[in-house]
Amino acid sequence: MKLSLGKVLGLAVLASSSLLMLSTASAYEAGDWIVRAGAAGVYPTGDGNVKGIDGAKVEADSAWSFGINGTYMATSNIGIELLGAWPFKHDIDCKGSISALGTCADTKHLPPTLTVQYHFDTGSKFHPYIGAGVNYTYFFDTNTKGDLKDLGGKLDLDNSWGLAGEIGLDYDLGNDWMIGGQIYYMDIDTDATLKVSDLGYKETFNVSIDPWVYMISVGKKF
Ligand code: NI
Repeated sequence: MKLSLGKVLGLAVLASSSLLMLSTASAYEAGDWIVRAGAAGVYPTGDGNVKGIDGAKVEADSAWSFGINGTYMATSNIGIELLGAWPFKHDIDCKGSISALGTCADTKHLPPTLTVQYHFDTGSKFHPYIGAGVNYTYFFDTNTKGDLKDLGGKLDLDNSWGLAGEIGLDYDLGNDWMIGGQIYYMDIDTDATLKVSDLGYKETFNVSIDPWVYMISVGKKF
């Protein structure tokens, strides 16, 4: 868990204060729904030490998919957002002392994330906001590959609960349409169980994913 919310808040304040001088447009109002869809990329920052094997690590690669999020404005400044996505498929690399195994597994996941947001009123076409909340990550279809598979390797990843933070920006195109982007940081840590039957190996160890998630979207206000 290393939620850099301070950094996130700093960026958001900087972004919103530099936008204050721009032209005016209507802010969001209580009861508005905003739905955004677009490309979402998950870029892990963490890894995991493979228990009982000196210097052995596993690390998830980045992955892109289709993301969708919906925000309900409870007031003109406070929004509640749910982020969803088409499943992300990540390669998992064996690293360090087991780097000869290369890309040794892959997995799919869905990371629904619920955040409470504060929307800054800039009096412009830019609507910046920050949010914080919780992420649940559901891993499925986890399979070993290559030599690890040939050795009878099986990998299982537990689902994860963690905190999440976000900054976002909508740009009002008129007629309730907008383009925008979001950056999330998600605390995702999974208990990985690796069984390698040919080696008589079975251990469970923590793998930190802790990704930055980038989303570029087109949105509509209802
Ligand atoms: Ni973490």
